Amino acid sequence: MVRIAPSILSADFANLERDILDVNDADLLHVDVMDGHFVPNLTLGLPIVKRLCQVAPMRVDVHLMIDDPDTWAVRYADSGAFSVTYHFEAAANPRQIARDLRAAGVRAAVAIKPGTPVERAIELLDEVDMVLVMTVEPGFGGQSFMGDMMPKFEALRAAVDAAGADVWLQADGGVARDTIATVVRAGADTLVAGSAVYHAHDRNAEVRALRELGEQALRD
Ligand code: DX5
Ligand code: ZN
Repeated sequence: MVRIAPSILSADFANLERDILDVNDADLLHVDVMDGHFVPNLTLGLPIVKRLCQVAPMRVDVHLMIDDPDTWAVRYADSGAFSVTYHFEAAANPRQIARDLRAAGVRAAVAIKPGTPVERAIELLDEVDMVLVMTVEPGFGGQSFMGDMMPKFEALRAAVDAAGADVWLQADGGVARDTIATVVRAGADTLVAGSAVYHAHDRNAEVRALRELGEQALRD
């Protein structure tokens, strides 16, 4: 199965509730938290995530692009989020963060930047519910999809299937109609799409179109 997670990074920040309801056919809502340190961009933090979780009809998938997730990640577990993703590169003890998140009752997910070897995520597969592979450098929406990240999905898919584990594989960055089949065939099952969905004329229709293209790639 293929899940579509629109990223509100490309929504209208003065009309977030409206723009969340605009994509109510989505499987997840992807919320990008950036601190201006781990990435050179600043978005929103815990009070806004809490409020978004109250108004969103779908499950909220929080992507933390912040320093010190060892302190902060677990605080997002109480926000109402369904899953909390932290970056391996920012973590002092990535294994402990995953344990803390699961103990707090949310799905734990680890993210790796394009320059980080996939082995760092494979080593954590027994502790996480999802791995996010960045298919752009984190920080901004609307960048070009990095096709050279596909071997990471292939390696993760092989490791997840070999372990018989229920770990979702998420692609984030540049996912659109022209790239979704490639990344699904490589092994991704959970697709973030920011600009592709929010710049579409009919956003919910775009969510459904992306899901259909992803499902079709799985059948081919
Ligand atoms: C980038 C964010 C992404 C971003 C994706 O650092 O993590 O979630 O919103 O945007 P698109 O789909 O436009 O590449
Ligand atoms: Zn993201």
